[in-house]
Amino acid sequence: MLDRYKILTVTHKRVNLKEISQYAVHASDNCSLEVRLEELKQQFHFPELMYLATCNRIMYFFVTDRELDNAFVAEFFQHINPTLEDDQLELIMDHALALSGLDALNHLLDVASSIDSLVIGERQILGQLRDAYHQCRDWGLTGDNIRLAMDHAVVSAKKVYSKTRIGEKPVSIVSLAIQRLLHTNLSKESRLLLIGAGQTNQLVAKFLAKNEFTNVTVFNRSINKAENVARTLSGNALPLSELDSYQEGFDGIIICTGSTKPILDAELYQKLLAGESGRKVVIDLAIPHNTHPNVMRDFDVQYIEIEGLRVMAKENMAFREREVSRARELLTELLAEFPVLFKQRQVELAMRSVPTEIKAIKSHAMNEVFRKEVDSLDDGTRELVERMLSYMEKKCIGIPMKAARQLSE
Ligand SMILES: NC(=O)c1ccc[n+]([C@@H]2O[C@H](COP(=O)([O-])OP(=O)(O)OC[C@H]3O[C@@H](n4cnc5c(N)ncnc54)[C@H](OP(=O)(O)O)[C@@H]3O)[C@@H](O)[C@H]2O)c1
Repeated sequence: MLDRYKILTVTHKRVNLKEISQYAVHASDNCSLEVRLEELKQQFHFPELMYLATCNRIMYFFVTDRELDNAFVAEFFQHINPTLEDDQLELIMDHALALSGLDALNHLLDVASSIDSLVIGERQILGQLRDAYHQCRDWGLTGDNIRLAMDHAVVSAKKVYSKTRIGEKPVSIVSLAIQRLLHTNLSKESRLLLIGAGQTNQLVAKFLAKNEFTNVTVFNRSINKAENVARTLSGNALPLSELDSYQEGFDGIIICTGSTKPILDAELYQKLLAGESGRKVVIDLAIPHNTHPNVMRDFDVQYIEIEGLRVMAKENMAFREREVSRARELLTELLAEFPVLFKQRQVELAMRSVPTEIKAIKSHAMNEVFRKEVDSLDDGTRELVERMLSYMEKKCIGIPMKAARQLSE
């Protein structure tokens, strides 16, 4: 029965990120995605189907008796994407991973607990997996088998996150930069200048908002982007051209633009000081650097630059990778629990009708088979017979349940 669990997946481990979307269900909105998945389920006669699409994995989790041989996998992906070329379909087994039974469940647990992720230890995948499941369940695509597997995957992932240190140390440059900022003397009310409003600083702004920094001014070459970022922080937005006339002073600068020449040099820094002195913080996340070395030479600056953060990110990633072996040990134990849970569930389903059937036998005995004899009894005796039968009924219901439990242990 467990063999009916199947996974077909294409991930960052085998396929270039840009190519992954070729294996996804293409739909303009959720409504058409629901229709396409329902059609896929019917086409291949899957009793249950769940679909997960992230930027680095596409996963089809389904239940079927069919074997996942080359012919089936090629047929499946050709149905998903008819534009796949013959040579791509011939190579399908190099790109897609086809898993059955416990191997499929093992993979599900790996995905949920992030050990199959591009960034090991990122918890986002568990949320994405749960959202995908809830959506497919609400669309009526999944059933009891996938529910059981997903429940176990979620419990297992939570155990991995809590019993190992897999997600402990930040590995993104921006989160490390913010961590370093929080370790400086700057308070949440300190005056911060955010220079640049590209993708990196948009993320910086989200982290600053999350950490409740309340006094941020955003400078950017195009003002509309500066305004968008400033909105995240309830801060001010100014064009980059006004930076050298800014006279409000500052406590810290976070700079990250695509400029290939330094933007912040000693002359500009002097102007930005607006007559203030004392140690300030400068965080430069750009490559090449946006801060000229003469700033650190001429002023008292606590300088945090991207190279140092990159080294830390690598060390933290190596730390997380070392935790993977602990996570695997835990997941092996947790996977071994699944066949027992699965069997218990099958027994539970098979036994669901037992109480109703026993009740029906009792009622048939009292009202039909022994009706005449029961009618001839006096009230006290009839009550006693009913109590005895109710007692028997309760005990009889318990017997097969107990036996089934023992059988599946
Ligand atoms: N820290 C990290 O993890 C990380 C990751 C990726 C990249 N980076 C580095 O961060 C920098 C920006 O990356 P990004 O992904 O945020 O870039 P992005 O999304 O392309 O945004 C570029 C930003 O730089 C501004 N800009 C570009 N050329 C400029 C110039 N000559 N003078 C002034 N402003 C200029 C743009 O202003 P407009 O809006 O006016 O165009 C925009 O705000 C790059 O040096 C990149 O190597 C860092």
